[in-house]
Amino acid sequence: MIELINISKRFGSTTAVDSISLKVESGEFCCLVGTSGCGKSTTLRMINRLIEHSDGEIHIDQQPIRSFREETLRRRIGYAIQSTGLFPHWTVARNIGLVPRLLKWPKARIDARVEELMALLGLSMDEFAGKYPDQLSGGQAQRVGVARALAADPDILLMDEPFGALDPITRESLQLELRDLQARLGKTIVFVTHDMDEALTLADRLVVMHEGQIMQQGHPLSVLRDPANDFVASLLGGEDRGLKEAALLPVSERMMPLGTGGVARERIDQGASLREALSVMLWRRVERLAVVDDDDIPIGELSFRRLVGARGHD
Ligand SMILES: Nc1ncnc2c1ncn2[C@@H]1O[C@H](COP(=O)(O)OP(=O)(O)OP(=O)(O)O)[C@@H](O)[C@H]1O
Ligand SMILES: [Mg+2]
Repeated sequence: MIELINISKRFGSTTAVDSISLKVESGEFCCLVGTSGCGKSTTLRMINRLIEHSDGEIHIDQQPIRSFREETLRRRIGYAIQSTGLFPHWTVARNIGLVPRLLKWPKARIDARVEELMALLGLSMDEFAGKYPDQLSGGQAQRVGVARALAADPDILLMDEPFGALDPITRESLQLELRDLQARLGKTIVFVTHDMDEALTLADRLVVMHEGQIMQQGHPLSVLRDPANDFVASLLGGEDRGLKEAALLPVSERMMPLGTGGVARERIDQGASLREALSVMLWRRVERLAVVDDDDIPIGELSFRRLVGARGHD
């Protein structure tokens, strides 16, 4: 769906992006990570032409982006940033309706769309529609920013640290919403973040950048397990990579059938991660957990040996 071919961007004598090639498939969730100044935001902004690339070609559905009319780019690509970029003198409703208005949708259709999006992002119409951005908390403003990016129902979403300023609980609920949106509506998402846990859990494709170049890309598990070099390994968490890998694997992956020795007292949900299981073992000081299904019925067990992937019998 999105293809960057040998893309470079120079600002005067600075090379911000240095001949990168990247293909994001339709419906894929692609996360860009890397140290500050490595060219993530520049890469994102070249895709919607907020920045013109210096060299190479960018295609959307096999068409060079320079051949698209501005209106088409606006309709097809939503863009959300950490600082939200909301217009301060516009109400929440007006901010969300920005792109549909630019696209000259009829008023009734814009109003209906704004209402739909506010419901989707858990913003009550009565409470928020008439508020101004400076009357919102950071998290509410970020929700409005995401709603605005979704307004014209774009098939591509570009998101630059959209949850950067959020507490872990709000952040997690927005991450779940976004994952759900992507799965349900089949959006193609390119997402920039500094939070490696966020990148690892959200991404189908993880792209590691350094000094304007792509160091490595692939599925988060394969990048974690087989980093191309020391830089990638340390960016992904160094010695913490074991925990990061465990966070991506479900308990069901290492579960054993129920034994005959009675069901363990401490329980873990089958959908929980191995990292959560390890945490429960540490916290409860036990080496065995009963694995339960959605109805809390034990369906298997997980031992510490199995959890760490040791071979042989318990
Ligand atoms: N408009 C500009 N003019 C000149 N240099 C720029 C411009 N925009 C970005 N740069 C430079 O390009 C490089 C890449 O910047 P970019 O904003 O893409 O980094 P980033 O990976 O998004 O960093 P961060 O994680 O800090 O947001 C930096 O060295 C930056 O100083
Ligand atoms: Mg940036």
